[in-house]
Amino acid sequence: MNLKEKKIYIDKIKSLAREKNAVIFAHYYTRPEIQEIADFIGDSLALAQQATRVDAKILVMCGVHFMGETMKILCPDKKVLIPDMNAGCSLADSCKAEDLAAFKAQHPDHMVVSYVNTSADVKALTDVVVTSSNAKKIIDQIPKDAKIIFGPDHNLGSYINSVTGREMLLWNGACHVHSRFSLEALMQLKKANPGVEVLAHPECKAPILAQSEVIGSTKALLQHTIQSPAKRFIIATESGILFEMQRACPDKEFIPVPPEVTEGVGCSCNECEYMRMNTLEKVFNCLLNESPEMIVKKETADKAISSIERMLQMS
Ligand code: 13P
Ligand code: SF4
Repeated sequence: MNLKEKKIYIDKIKSLAREKNAVIFAHYYTRPEIQEIADFIGDSLALAQQATRVDAKILVMCGVHFMGETMKILCPDKKVLIPDMNAGCSLADSCKAEDLAAFKAQHPDHMVVSYVNTSADVKALTDVVVTSSNAKKIIDQIPKDAKIIFGPDHNLGSYINSVTGREMLLWNGACHVHSRFSLEALMQLKKANPGVEVLAHPECKAPILAQSEVIGSTKALLQHTIQSPAKRFIIATESGILFEMQRACPDKEFIPVPPEVTEGVGCSCNECEYMRMNTLEKVFNCLLNESPEMIVKKETADKAISSIERMLQMS
């Protein structure tokens, strides 16, 4: 799409959103042009919190499927649109509700803490949801002797175990983007850029986190780059965040860590192809047709809402 076509789409989306009383939300991992048209950009926690505060008829969630589901569960009276229903999440897919139910049955004395990157069916089996922003804070509020199943992200769970001293039972799921950053490439970047801090998302593997000075959610990493006096940073998370980092800090430099080269696995870059499914054209069409619309079965939503609301209360 050339610049002129892009400008036409942006203008059409903005006027359609005004006309239909719609608010557009985007995750930091979406394409730059999607972040440009969004009314709110945020990490998964901020997007869920913000959705409950806006006064609008339609919410357009430019992110992935579970984010639209979470929004719909929190805002059942609003129409929630998602530009592409196929925008899934490899991490959410790594934990099927029936498998979690069977695991729970094997560990009936355990409570379930689930990462927000899960389906509504999994949230319905969950006691409290967490995001990477609030996982430590929430788990610290759970009695020390409580037994916990944590899923689906094994890397995040191991990290939380290490910073809280817990021994949560971990699900063996992973994000195909974050679990593929190359340690070898990171070591080379560190050698070539001595003294430059490494900022990593806790979905990265332990050896990457061990080499990182700052570990946090997308929002926490962004805030660190804004507040730090440093001018250069090495970034180990999905590269979409670099757009907001660069916009917030035009005088600073951000060096992305590349993934391991693995033939035939997803895209060979540090981008989430699901997040990139959100395009200007699809945002325009979903607003125009008010479709695809996110629908969550009432029975599932009624069960899932308490685990999400508990998270919001404990954040
Ligand atoms: P955040 O909670 O940092 O927004 O991360 C969501 C996500 O999908 C990370 O891959
Ligand atoms: Fe899911 Fe990974 Fe994409 Fe985040 S980056 S939405 S965890 S697949």
